Amino acid sequence: MNLPKKRFLIVGLVFSLLIFLGYGNAWTQEQQVAQLTSQDCIKCHPKVVHQVEEKGARHKTEVSCVDCHEGHPPMVAKEEIIPKCDVCHSGEPHFELKNCAGCHSNPHTPLDIKFKGKIKKACLTCHKEEQQQLKTYPSAHTKLACNDCHTVHKEIPPCLRCHESHTAEMKNKDCLSCHPPHKPLVITYGTEVPNSYCGACHYDIGDILDKNKTKHHDLTCVYCHRNKHGIRPTCETCHGAPHPKEMVAKFPQCIMCHTDAHDLTK
Ligand code: HEC
Ligand code: HEC
Ligand code: HEC
Ligand code: HEC
Ligand code: HEC
Ligand code: HEC
Ligand code: HEC
Ligand code: HEC
Ligand code: HEC
Ligand code: HEC
Ligand code: HEC
Ligand code: HEC
Repeated sequence: MNLPKKRFLIVGLVFSLLIFLGYGNAWTQEQQVAQLTSQDCIKCHPKVVHQVEEKGARHKTEVSCVDCHEGHPPMVAKEEIIPKCDVCHSGEPHFELKNCAGCHSNPHTPLDIKFKGKIKKACLTCHKEEQQQLKTYPSAHTKLACNDCHTVHKEIPPCLRCHESHTAEMKNKDCLSCHPPHKPLVITYGTEVPNSYCGACHYDIGDILDKNKTKHHDLTCVYCHRNKHGIRPTCETCHGAPHPKEMVAKFPQCIMCHTDAHDLTK
């Protein structure tokens, strides 16, 4: 055998061996992949399996690893075994949003939701009513993003995180009893509000009424100014017509004799 021929043979042999090994390797891997089930993943990806186990929610109960990851590297390219969300989630406004992973930061724990940036539109795919209120009753809150207040999903923020109280004794639940958060300037209240709350701003009236010796002293501000801030009742609403017509004709206004609702004279 001359040298070139010998070389040719060796190269040929090495080639066949490589081809044989390559195919053989590939074949066994294909076999493995065909048999790879969700039970196998834990051997090499324990962290992910534990995440799904603990916080997979319906990604644990309704789907399995292999429903989402079809095939495995190197047989199937890495990019191709990562599923797009819209393969399974489509047909609702919420599923038209961009960047699902911006909020659902880990597909293995899909209800771990993080809010980043200023969010409003995305919330409206599920909550329309609050935005409706914010729009219909414009206030400084209308200009805020939803997650300026709700920094974490379902969190209810305390008003006192951003505001001072009108008086030291007012608690957070009191704020809500007068100001609905999505229309804070539509101020309504119940019958339980103590005079000191109104007196926080109307301190002059609060003082005058407090010193008064008539039966009006015993009434609360909200007994007379019912339900809605700014309401001015008339004396007749409660007292009807207590005096003879002739007298009223001469002195048409009650306060001509009784001075003032808060500083009543008898
Ligand atoms: C024998 C160990 C082994 C088993 C079993 C295994 N994997 Fe893997 N997996 C790996 C290795 C190693 C890589 C990295 C491959 C690479 O970087 O080329 C990988 C990569 C992946 C990737 C891509 C990761 C990336 O970086 O994008 C996914 C997804 C994946 N595996 C899912 C699974 C699932 C689902 C199962 C169970 C059905 C599973 N694996 C079973 C070893 C394994
Ligand atoms: C609902 C679909 C879905 C299910 C179910 C799912 N995955 Fe994934 N998985 C994904 C997506 C999407 C990514 C890409 C995440 C990314 O790019 O950050 C991913 C990434 C991975 C990765 C690579 C990144 C990492 O976190 O290490 C591995 C490994 C993996 N999955 C394994 C599994 C295993 C094991 C299971 C079952 C216990 C499983 N997956 C169940 C959708 C899923
Ligand atoms: C292979 C199909 C499949 C893929 C891909 C998939 N999901 Fe799901 N997902 C489901 C099923 C099935 C459910 C349960 C029924 C439902 O809510 O529609 C679900 C439920 C969810 C839930 C609610 C979980 C719960 O317990 O309430 C969220 C959030 C979610 N998916 C987000 C995503 C995101 C984000 C992606 C992309 C990273 C994604 N899914 C990809 C099949 C899938
Ligand atoms: C702005 C943040 C945000 C973005 C972006 C987002 N989601 Fe959601 N998603 C949520 C919140 C919040 C929930 C409610 C979770 C709950 O009920 O506890 C939710 C719930 C879900 C659910 C379960 C409820 C349902 O309607 O079936 C699925 C599925 C889901 N998202 C998929 C997606 C997909 C797919 C995308 C991308 C197209 C996406 N999400 C983008 C915040 C977001
Ligand atoms: C995919 C739908 C979905 C999206 C998107 C969504 N939510 Fe929700 N949200 C829900 C569901 C479902 C509940 C639970 C309702 C219940 O318990 O009655 C909820 C509850 C809430 C609650 C608590 C309600 C309560 O009664 O305690 C707040 C606050 C809230 N969401 C704010 C937001 C904000 C802010 C965004 C946007 C950053 C948002 N949500 C995005 C579905 C969604
Ligand atoms: C100024 C802060 C603030 C802003 C901005 C805000 N919220 Fe709220 N939200 C609250 C507070 C406080 C509550 C609790 C109300 C209660 O307990 O009566 C609440 C309650 C909710 C609830 C529970 C149901 C309800 O109406 O009581 C949902 C849902 C909600 N907000 C969604 C949103 C969405 C969506 C946006 C943006 C369009 C938004 N919020 C903007 C403070 C805010
Ligand atoms: C994330 C911060 C934040 C939270 C939480 C918050 N607010 Fe505000 N609020 C603001 C900002 C900012 C303004 C505008 C500047 C100012 O008046 O301080 C405002 C303004 C107001 C105004 C005046 C509105 C106007 O248009 O003049 C009222 C009333 C109000 N807030 C009540 C509340 C009440 C009640 C709560 C709790 C339910 C609350 N706020 C929770 C940030 C917040
Ligand atoms: C008894 C009802 C009542 C209660 C309780 C109440 N407020 Fe007010 N608040 C008002 C009224 C009335 C105004 C003035 C509205 C106007 O100027 O027309 C006001 C105004 C505001 C303003 C606008 C700026 C200002 O000071 O004039 C903020 C902010 C505010 N309240 C926050 C709060 C917070 C926070 C709480 C809880 C600690 C709270 N309020 C409790 C009735 C109330
Ligand atoms: C945070 C301060 C604040 C609090 C608390 C407050 N008010 Fe006022 N109130 C005002 C301001 C400012 C005005 C004048 C602005 C206007 O005309 O709306 C006003 C106006 C009024 C008016 C007169 C409206 C008119 O026609 O002139 C009445 C009546 C009134 N308040 C009653 C109350 C009662 C009752 C309470 C307690 C439930 C209360 N206020 C709590 C700030 C407050
Ligand atoms: C007995 C019923 C009654 C009680 C109690 C009462 N008010 Fe009045 N208030 C009135 C009447 C009636 C008017 C209307 C006077 C008018 O139109 O000339 C009025 C007017 C007002 C006004 C408008 C400005 C003014 O001086 O005319 C304010 C502000 C006010 N009240 C606040 C209060 C506050 C704060 C309290 C509690 C400290 C309170 N009121 C308790 C009946 C009452
Ligand atoms: C929201 C109802 C209400 C309004 C408005 C109201 N009052 Fe009265 N007033 C009362 C009540 C209740 C009493 C106590 C009656 C009793 O105990 O017999 C009272 C008592 C009086 C008394 C007797 C005082 C005493 O000590 O014996 C006079 C006088 C009086 N009111 C005048 C007025 C005048 C004038 C106005 C208008 C400026 C007015 N009231 C507005 C509810 C009201
Ligand atoms: C000309 C003066 C005058 C005018 C105007 C006037 N009152 Fe009187 N009012 C009196 C006198 C005087 C009394 C009796 C005081 C007493 O008995 O101690 C009285 C008593 C009352 C009492 C208490 C009755 C009781 O049984 O104790 C009420 C309530 C009352 N007035 C309401 C009103 C109302 C409402 C108006 C307006 C429609 C009004 N008054 C107009 C002078 C007046």
